Amino acid sequence: MLRRLYHEQPESFAFTDANQSWAESQITKYPEGRQASAVIPLLWRAQEQEGWLSKPAIEAVADLLDMAYIRVLEVASFYFMFQLQPVGSVAHIQICGTTSCMICGAEDLVAVCKEKIANKPHELSADGKFSWEEVECLGACTNAPMAQIGKDYYEDLTADGFAKMLDEMSAGKVPTPGPQNGRYASEPLSGLTSLTEYDSGKTQYNASAQLATDIGDTIKRIDGTEVPILTPWIGKDGVVAGRAAEGQPPEPAPTPKPAVKQAEEAKKAEKPKTKKAETAETKAEKPKAKKPAAKKAPAAGGADDLKQLKGVGPALEKKLHDNGVTTFAQIAAWNAEDIADMDDKLSFKGRIERDGWVDQAKLLAAGEDTEFSKKVAKGDVYKD
Ligand code: FES
Repeated sequence: MLRRLYHEQPESFAFTDANQSWAESQITKYPEGRQASAVIPLLWRAQEQEGWLSKPAIEAVADLLDMAYIRVLEVASFYFMFQLQPVGSVAHIQICGTTSCMICGAEDLVAVCKEKIANKPHELSADGKFSWEEVECLGACTNAPMAQIGKDYYEDLTADGFAKMLDEMSAGKVPTPGPQNGRYASEPLSGLTSLTEYDSGKTQYNASAQLATDIGDTIKRIDGTEVPILTPWIGKDGVVAGRAAEGQPPEPAPTPKPAVKQAEEAKKAEKPKTKKAETAETKAEKPKAKKPAAKKAPAAGGADDLKQLKGVGPALEKKLHDNGVTTFAQIAAWNAEDIADMDDKLSFKGRIERDGWVDQAKLLAAGEDTEFSKKVAKGDVYKD
């Protein structure tokens, strides 16, 4: 199957505030210079939020991870779990068509999809509520035929029962995930023949279906408010687990998200509005913004290696150059308005302050080193 970007794309993508915080917390799992390792979880969260991956979403993830757009597109287009075209607003149905399910009636389920949703996979239903595709074995073969709908499995399906489930979902209900033929889990259809003593004290549904029912997000788009952000890899002392054990000097540990959010919120009161926050109306009223320090001419000595700043990789360095920033001295001179302006231009809201670019730049402009610049100089961070 040819996997490429959809022919119609939205204008933009932005994580919700909570998803943005979640994404930033995931990035702290990885050592400096290895943030690209977070690409799959971040793409997945973008898809959980929107239902599919648009070009702006892929680019937003690339910006967040300081990766080239093509690298992130390569990942998104390689894995079939990423949807590169719009999916149903209610649910995207994934019918398992592999051996067990095929023998037990997967083709009947596909026929239901063709009749009730669309004749071809990855096409939206007429009301835009559903889409479907056939997928490879989802590992629930004992309960064949089955379908994954949203985040959960619906098993032991029949064509009639499946058609009714779609009707229920269309009406705003979410059928209970798990076996649909009265089976508890994957025990023999005739009932348990062993371990019968464990039959008592069990939950209403099997563990998977019970959890799915308790969480209740089977077909919900994830906005990040569902569960608290957990960062167990950041110890109580603020040090990323494993660093001390590796004998590395403790790096300034990333601050757990709640504190970051609080600091950001406190600063918002002082910060001038960014362009994104402005309405067309306020834009029209606003006097022309002061030219930011970013536009100052580079120093006579030529361009600095901006990648020596922690948080600036090759992609961001290029963007800085494109915006006329080529020296540490320019960055060292930024005030709050300049930072807000560059935040906007780089699509990296909050990152300049979070990584302390200005303080780093002041040291580097004065000819001093930082822990990070030493690593860059040793070739430990960016390798050609
Ligand atoms: S064959 Fe369908 S889940 Fe394995």
